[in-house]
Amino acid sequence: MTRIRKAVLPVAGLGTRFLPASKAVPKEMITVVDRPAIQWVIEEAFAAGIEHAVLVTGRNKSAIEDHFDHAPELEATLRERGKEELLNRLLADLPAAGRLSYTRQQRPLGLGHAVACARDIIGEEPFALLLPDMLSLAEPGHMSQLMEVHEKTGGNIIAVEEVPREDTHKYGVVAIGEAMAEGVWRITGMVEKPAPEDAPSNLIISGRYILQPEIFRLLADQAPGAGGEIQITDAMKRLLAEQPFFAVRTRGETHDCGSPLGFLKANLAFALNDPALADDLRAEMARLLKAAP
Ligand code: G1P
Repeated sequence: MTRIRKAVLPVAGLGTRFLPASKAVPKEMITVVDRPAIQWVIEEAFAAGIEHAVLVTGRNKSAIEDHFDHAPELEATLRERGKEELLNRLLADLPAAGRLSYTRQQRPLGLGHAVACARDIIGEEPFALLLPDMLSLAEPGHMSQLMEVHEKTGGNIIAVEEVPREDTHKYGVVAIGEAMAEGVWRITGMVEKPAPEDAPSNLIISGRYILQPEIFRLLADQAPGAGGEIQITDAMKRLLAEQPFFAVRTRGETHDCGSPLGFLKANLAFALNDPALADDLRAEMARLLKAAP
């Protein structure tokens, strides 16, 4: 079985739902507890064995590149002030040289187009795709859970999650057939952002994928779909005619940080999972809830 070495993380989106916060700061750099959202996702990818992550960026995203680089002045100042522990933590967080690549999506033509921008860096091998809007708190992480299934099944893998039917129009939705194992099914169809009455199930595509490189051939001539954008779901649907796809219902909650409410929820969930913060936060939340109108 081919090992999955590379991952694509599309980070070119404008983040209009996060204005004004995302005016000068990329939405991926907004904090979840103590680090930018994108750092959590990179950590999830590396924990799953990914060696190289390709970030598909866009205009005004340079803060992401700066975040994953040395900050010589800051490091010197921390050293001078004897803040060795903090300095060491920052240095430990830095991906080793050469583990990240950046390529730029020049025009916002859709998620499928963003993924296609990484084709030459990925080359002819299967790869992971992580959408940084979706944050998951799980041990092992969702990408690791997909890797585990891929080792047994090969093919293409999509993480799915159950949502109330009225929410299916916000996501890609899969149709499933035969069960392969507990929480793993053969995918028989998929559709991007269906109306609730047209959704083939309530299993939504939750932002973690393992894809075979043949997807790039299909993305190259993929016509725009939902929202007038080139959709990865539409290209995957075409690949489904050639190759098997499996849905994995991941264990552990996913937080959709595509909306401010989801983002707040992620912050609370991640903080409640942090032993240094959990007890105090619980007490503060109880107090706030009592005081709230
Ligand atoms: C994208 C995918 C969709 C998936 C969703 C998860 O949509 O196209 O299939 O369900 O991410 O967040 P977007 O959120 O970019 O509209």
